[in-house]
Amino acid sequence: MASSGTDSRGSFSLHSYHVSEDLGFILPDPLEDLPPHYQPWLDIALRIPELVHSHELRARVDKMPLLSTSFLCKHKELRLAHLALSMMTMGYVWQEGENNMVEKLPSSLAVPFWEVSQRLGLPPILTHASAVLANWKKKDPEGPFDMENLELLVSLPGGESVRGFFLATLLVELAAVPAIRSIPSVINGIRCGDTDAVVRALEDISLSIQDMNDALKLMQVHVDPSVFYGIMRIYLSGWKDNPCMPKGLVYEGVHTKPMEFSGGSAAQSSLLHCFDELLGVKHEEKGRSFLTRMRDYMPPAHRQLIQDISSQPSLRSFVQQHQANDQLNQAYEFCVSKLLALRNYHINVVSRFITVPAARARQLRNHSQDSEGETVIKAPKALEERGTGGSGIMTFLKTVRDETKDALLTEPSKKIKNHS
Ligand code: HEM
Repeated sequence: MASSGTDSRGSFSLHSYHVSEDLGFILPDPLEDLPPHYQPWLDIALRIPELVHSHELRARVDKMPLLSTSFLCKHKELRLAHLALSMMTMGYVWQEGENNMVEKLPSSLAVPFWEVSQRLGLPPILTHASAVLANWKKKDPEGPFDMENLELLVSLPGGESVRGFFLATLLVELAAVPAIRSIPSVINGIRCGDTDAVVRALEDISLSIQDMNDALKLMQVHVDPSVFYGIMRIYLSGWKDNPCMPKGLVYEGVHTKPMEFSGGSAAQSSLLHCFDELLGVKHEEKGRSFLTRMRDYMPPAHRQLIQDISSQPSLRSFVQQHQANDQLNQAYEFCVSKLLALRNYHINVVSRFITVPAARARQLRNHSQDSEGETVIKAPKALEERGTGGSGIMTFLKTVRDETKDALLTEPSKKIKNHS
């Protein structure tokens, strides 16, 4: 891979970063099947919700043969293997909720999961790269890439809400494709001082971020907050900074000591990391360390792209140097304010899907009201008001949002209210 992302003509391009022209960071046409040798994995992975429901998943995994990973050759085979093994791991660990926890993952699952993860440069836990980017197929191959025509390959407990959650996130990734495609135009425009090209590219990025915001709205149509909070969320939880698993998890046959990994989160999507680096949004201390750690949960080529964007000449300085160019200044400010609006809307989403149901669960518990049939009460207490990565959610998200606002150049724009 060209580490600087420069092609033979000296222009910055996305060619070496595993970014698809049509689908951006989404894995194009993920495989639906593995070589027959791996049937024992898929026999379990394709039935996770029912096996968890009947409390059989752990027993089935314990009996699974330890399979060699040497027959997995192609990138897409490894991606499907990572997806299947990671979903099985989440089901295995959280089958009984926060009670009756396991301390180790059996070698039949841990060893191949570790090997596949090493080969992909991903951690051995559920990640955005697997659960979202590599977890889709079209019902009608000729049909559109939309909610109605998409299906998950592997699922978790939570029924239609799981489908809605992962697919809405996938559609946010899809909406961002024009923005990702325009990043090289911004960088090349700065390099050769072509302000018009930079303006055009920034306008495209702004429109695309607006489309991401619209796609994020699908969450409230397709995901039930009490199912997300009460049932699904624990399966996205990891074993780092998690009071349910203070020591982490032993991967039997890999290491004798327990290891800690954060749970799945769209903070592992490369999109906002790319925009922050491009637009010059700076994060301080705590927020930065979490976000930087999330880059270790991305496919290495995508992580490299973020790194290479960050080492390009600064767009923000370029705009400041062309203070007299109103068009350029407005295009930059508009783009930052769209990113700000997206983060504001995301905070609303988090409030709807975590803060509100958590308050309801607390209320039911404290007043010992009749909570039978209330899904929110099924959520583990330890996760109340905590991010899936173990952060104080709202404080963290508002800090990151405010740091986005700090990238704005002009005082009047800073006063614009960016709620959508
Ligand atoms: C029901 C839907 C969602 C919920 C409940 C949710 C929840 C959260 C939470 C709790 C965090 C804090 C970090 C962590 O604990 O992992 C977070 C961070 C983040 N989420 Fe979401 N999220 C949702 C959907 C999405 C979607 C669809 C995207 C877009 C791809 C997204 C992008 C991000 C980003 C980029 C961060 C890092 C903070 C930032 O850069 O602003 N989230 N989310």
